[in-house]
Amino acid sequence: MILILDFGSQYTQLIARRVREAHVYCEIHPYNLAIEKIRALEPRGIILSGGPASLYESGAPDIDPAVLDLGCPVLGICYGLYVIAQRFGARSAGARAREYGPATLEIDVTDPLFERLEGRKHRVWMSHGDRIEHLPGALVAIAHSDNSPYAAVRSHDGRLRGIQFHPEVAHTPIGAQVIRNFVIDICGEAGDWTMANFIEAKVAEIRRRVGAREQVVMGLSGGVDSSVAAALIHRAIDQRLKCVFVDTGLLRAGERDRMENHFAKTLGIDLRVADAAALFLKRLDGVLDPEQKRRIIGHTFIEVFEREAAALGGARFLGQGTLYPDVIESISFKGPSATIKSHHNVGGLPERMHLELIEPLRELFKDEVRELGRELGLAADIVDREPFPGPGLAVRIVGEVTGDGLDLLRRADAIVMEEFASMRREEPLWQAFAVLLPLKTVGVMGDGRSYESVIAIRAVESSDGMTADWARLDPGFLARLSSRITNEVRGVNRVVYDITSKPPATIEWE
Ligand code: XMP
Repeated sequence: MILILDFGSQYTQLIARRVREAHVYCEIHPYNLAIEKIRALEPRGIILSGGPASLYESGAPDIDPAVLDLGCPVLGICYGLYVIAQRFGARSAGARAREYGPATLEIDVTDPLFERLEGRKHRVWMSHGDRIEHLPGALVAIAHSDNSPYAAVRSHDGRLRGIQFHPEVAHTPIGAQVIRNFVIDICGEAGDWTMANFIEAKVAEIRRRVGAREQVVMGLSGGVDSSVAAALIHRAIDQRLKCVFVDTGLLRAGERDRMENHFAKTLGIDLRVADAAALFLKRLDGVLDPEQKRRIIGHTFIEVFEREAAALGGARFLGQGTLYPDVIESISFKGPSATIKSHHNVGGLPERMHLELIEPLRELFKDEVRELGRELGLAADIVDREPFPGPGLAVRIVGEVTGDGLDLLRRADAIVMEEFASMRREEPLWQAFAVLLPLKTVGVMGDGRSYESVIAIRAVESSDGMTADWARLDPGFLARLSSRITNEVRGVNRVVYDITSKPPATIEWE
């Protein structure tokens, strides 16, 4: 494995991604991981990440000196470069050497790190405030840029290398090859790591942590992350994984059946379904404000989950489908919207319940999680599922949530799901769903006048949910949606299509 020691760069997870793309297993650990633990991991190579600190600050983060003497190759990126250079007595220059954005890297010395690159000059991405001024004798420069005389360096024995640019970001086209060269050619990794290997390693790790007798309790939401995490933990400890599915009554049509069928029947997971619809509805009675809805739903969820988990008796661990982007807040998938809308999450739950966390997806990205889910045999409709907000249909009924409103919305939304599922598209949509508006409008039906509800359709394209654009749908498709909803859902006489991007609107209506 390749060990990535993290100095807090917002790009650290991208380094892991590039290493995995070279089919090499890697793990990210904090820069100050104890040396005995590093030895126990037996890394074939170590990558020191960038970081926001400056080596000028007192108490700047640094590694145990023994890390550079382990014998395996080390690559320092940006801040990691200074860490290496400083060890040999380099001096760095501060603020005036800042370099942010694109730069041209010129390779001066042939090096395995730059194998298979065409030509000597390459576009790279820089993002640093310090730079090395005087290179110590133990290191030699192998490339430079306009602003960095030592944009890449190595030790005489070729074991230690440092680069000023960021090979992990998309703006450095040669980056993937550089990382590949490091992990395969320089560290000697085979490059044959696959999702199957990941499963094997995680299963062993989960068994080690949980031991032979303890239990793991876990809440399933129906979303991709908790589903895949549960399937993986189940593979490791079988019936000692106890899953709880809270039916909030705020779910899309058929969701509870799908969960019971797939998890309990097909996968054989011990699944406890808590029917809490009436409780959620009672707590939401008369509540109009979206944030208050979220808070009420969040608290009620925790309460029900705690009660159910207690009834299962004595789990020591709590399983969660935390992903890597959730771990590093700055590039979280939820991004800015997390601060605009308070997201329902079960943070704080482990402490309250005195549980230890098992988060087997912590190092994975969303697309890797999907791949893992397929490898674990989860059905395509679970693995490729679109995001669904924790508070569910409560934030898709504008204003007060009632039982009748939920029934009506669920029926309209089922038609939307059905129609979109059969629609052919090159790029899948990010989300498509129905919203129930808190108003009635006049219509004609047969010979009579009607005064009924309005359904809005929202369908958006997005790559991360942080920005989105409304989908340009075929008018014939929209016409069918509208006529099916008004014909099949009693109580609806008008359908509108939302043609607003995010920003200024959000994806959800509340
Ligand atoms: P917005 O509406 O903020 O949504 O543009 C961005 C993405 O986040 C989802 N979303 C939520 N997810 N709890 C969640 O777990 C929430 O309260 C919540 N609100 C929005 C939304 O479905 C979209 O994918």
